[in-house]
Amino acid sequence: MRQDINWGKLGFHYTEPDYIVRAAYHDGAWEEPYATQDKYLHLHVSATCLQYGQEAFEGLKAFRGVDDKIRIFRWRENAKRMAKSAEGLFMAPVPEELFGKAIRLALEKNLELVPPYGTGATLYFRPLLIGTTPRLGVGPGRDFEFIVIPSPIGPYYPGKFHCTTFLVNRYVDRAAPYGTGQFKVGGNYASSFRATEAAHMMGCDCLFLDAKQHKFIDECSAANFIGIKGNEYLTPRSTAILPSITNDSLMTLAREMGMKVTRRRIPLEELAQMSEAAACGTACVISPIDKVVDTEKNNVYTFGDEPGPVLSRLYHALKDIQYGRAEDKHGWTEVFEI
Ligand SMILES: Cc1ncc(COP(=O)(O)O)c(C=O)c1O
Repeated sequence: MRQDINWGKLGFHYTEPDYIVRAAYHDGAWEEPYATQDKYLHLHVSATCLQYGQEAFEGLKAFRGVDDKIRIFRWRENAKRMAKSAEGLFMAPVPEELFGKAIRLALEKNLELVPPYGTGATLYFRPLLIGTTPRLGVGPGRDFEFIVIPSPIGPYYPGKFHCTTFLVNRYVDRAAPYGTGQFKVGGNYASSFRATEAAHMMGCDCLFLDAKQHKFIDECSAANFIGIKGNEYLTPRSTAILPSITNDSLMTLAREMGMKVTRRRIPLEELAQMSEAAACGTACVISPIDKVVDTEKNNVYTFGDEPGPVLSRLYHALKDIQYGRAEDKHGWTEVFEI
């Protein structure tokens, strides 16, 4: 393990890895993934990723467990989601086995960067798929590059698991009902920066509503929304949101805890009937919400300053699986054999 990194002090920022992994697609075929120390691309200025945003990405983690084993969490789900994003942007999908091979190679070549157990830090992988064909006429490319960028990152919450305030946003739509919101593509994030940065300037995060009516909760800036109402786990159904792998895992755990799990359209006003609310995603697992502020309607929905009992239980249940402290009944983790 690298001695020059203060693992306990790593923030949620990029740390240069030793190696990245790359594989190119030309003439209808993928090459074998290979590791390289070169972090720069020799990319044509007219590449479709630069000209027309033909780009998709993913995010997943490897955890060093209580038993010192390294576990990669649900990488096949990320591979499947990236294949859907590729389809959505007219790109060649990365075959699942190639995706897995590239993740394992990135891990093997950066083993020194897997943070020690107990620091809360993990090795994050950022798979990236870009169109590389030079094109001036509007249209998709035929050549692609798949890249896996690993980076050790600190815990989302250094110290205590704490709450965030969300601002309801009605002036920037993240994604149209049948647009690209269901895909993990860069354009969705660039188009939400105006809203997310404005919210960050006020010390908050941004809650996106459905773009058609601004009536139903879509999702949080880079996370799905979950609410607890009695014994019910509620999460939005929408064609404009990313199918979160964390949310899927938490729904399974909630069912196992005897909760009713419902995925449906959730009117913003229904927040008033919820006892707990949170954002969920790979980065934080669960980010509890203390308040949702609707400045336009002069309304504030409050959930208390401390993370609630149901969400705390779900948070710890998932983290226990990821760190090998609890049985992985669903086969969500792949132990990396060194
Ligand atoms: C827009 C958006 N929604 C939801 C999520 C959560 O997805 P996951 O749990 O797979 O990380 C993310 C993060 O990947 C995201 O960017």
